[in-house]
Amino acid sequence: MTAKRSGGRSAPRKASSGRLKGAGRLRAAVPVELGERSYSIELGHDWLTTIGRRAADRLGAERIALVTVPPVARRYAPMLTRGLESRGARVRRIVVPDGDASKNLGQLGKLYDAFLEHGLDRGSAVVTLGGGVAGDLGGFAAASFLRGIPFVQVPTTVLAMADASIGGKTGVNLPQGKNLVGAFHQPRGVYIDVATLRSLPLRERAAGAAELIKAAAIWDADFFDWLEPRIEAFLALDLAVVLPALERACAIKAEVVERDEREGGLRRLLNFGHTLAHAIEKHARYRGILHGEAVSIGMVFAAERSEALGFAPAGTAARLTALLERARLPIRPPQRPRSAYLSAMSVDKKKQGGKIHFVVLDRIGAASTAALRPQDILPPGWSA
Ligand SMILES: NC(=O)c1ccc[n+]([C@@H]2O[C@H](COP(=O)([O-])OP(=O)(O)OC[C@H]3O[C@@H](n4cnc5c(N)ncnc54)[C@H](O)[C@@H]3O)[C@@H](O)[C@H]2O)c1
Ligand SMILES: [Zn+2]
Repeated sequence: MTAKRSGGRSAPRKASSGRLKGAGRLRAAVPVELGERSYSIELGHDWLTTIGRRAADRLGAERIALVTVPPVARRYAPMLTRGLESRGARVRRIVVPDGDASKNLGQLGKLYDAFLEHGLDRGSAVVTLGGGVAGDLGGFAAASFLRGIPFVQVPTTVLAMADASIGGKTGVNLPQGKNLVGAFHQPRGVYIDVATLRSLPLRERAAGAAELIKAAAIWDADFFDWLEPRIEAFLALDLAVVLPALERACAIKAEVVERDEREGGLRRLLNFGHTLAHAIEKHARYRGILHGEAVSIGMVFAAERSEALGFAPAGTAARLTALLERARLPIRPPQRPRSAYLSAMSVDKKKQGGKIHFVVLDRIGAASTAALRPQDILPPGWSA
């Protein structure tokens, strides 16, 4: 087996700009430094109207399309809109049906129609409000409409706050597979109101926490140590935990994206746990299991394989597994024959040009990639 290792990290990690007190509320800001495409991720509590004002100032657009989904639109669009309109913007709310199935070309076409109807031009902008679905779809509409207009992200799920809204990946699914069409289009800003998480179902919170744990596991041992005794408080949305945890996760994602904006290598580390996760999701036809749940199972698997292949010291997988279990996440793959998992993995293999860039843990807090064939990732005798 040729396990070529690459992508470890060496540079010191960046500190975010720290706590800012604003209007008596706890706030923080994490810069994303990408030259002229730089922006900032701003975190706060119960400040949607202020977010609207700040986003409008940042965009400076006369017309704004607010792309959102029903559960979020109902609760949060009015306050955000009030803020956007207070700066003189004309806001058109566009509500797309909920669920990953909406991330498709049909919905994209409907967005363009609505943009034209509302008179959006090159001086206009998009604001996405919701989880990764609203962000990916609305972001791609912004990336492609009139060859690209500015947008900002207002993520309302843990997954979107910690992961999907940062880094500029936008896109839609095709019937043949997920995220097959898209573009890199960096937002002008990411504005997080952690108060919106109160209405997010616990299961969704836990699934998002899987990506947060992933960030700690691949990148930041101190963060992992910090999170271990606090995961229950995170899920219970204890502000003293949620805000710093999201801030840290955002800073990690920002740092990875800064160093590898277009996924040359380092950004692949974010795929830790995703090789098996994609196979699980594919077999489940993306139903019944949330992405973060599949990632949780995939991380346990990848950590166990990291130990077996001699990358990580004994005990690494057990520690990660314990944390995921306490986050109420599943850790064992659904029972299916090895051959079924292998064939699902060969899709990733094709995408990656022959071998799979399998992300292994070197220890808690550090990861690298190994170019492996599916049959080396899932050795003979492996069973779910
Ligand atoms: N662009 C990227 O870099 C990137 C990274 C990871 C994932 N993604 C994409 O993100 C998507 C998954 O994102 P997600 O997990 O946020 O799913 P989602 O957007 O479907 O949101 C999950 C559910 O929660 C609801 N919801 C959202 N916010 C809520 C709130 N505050 N209160 C109550 N309900 C709320 C949504 O309506 C939906 O029903 C996938 O399509 C995935 O491909 C993109
Ligand atoms: Zn993921």
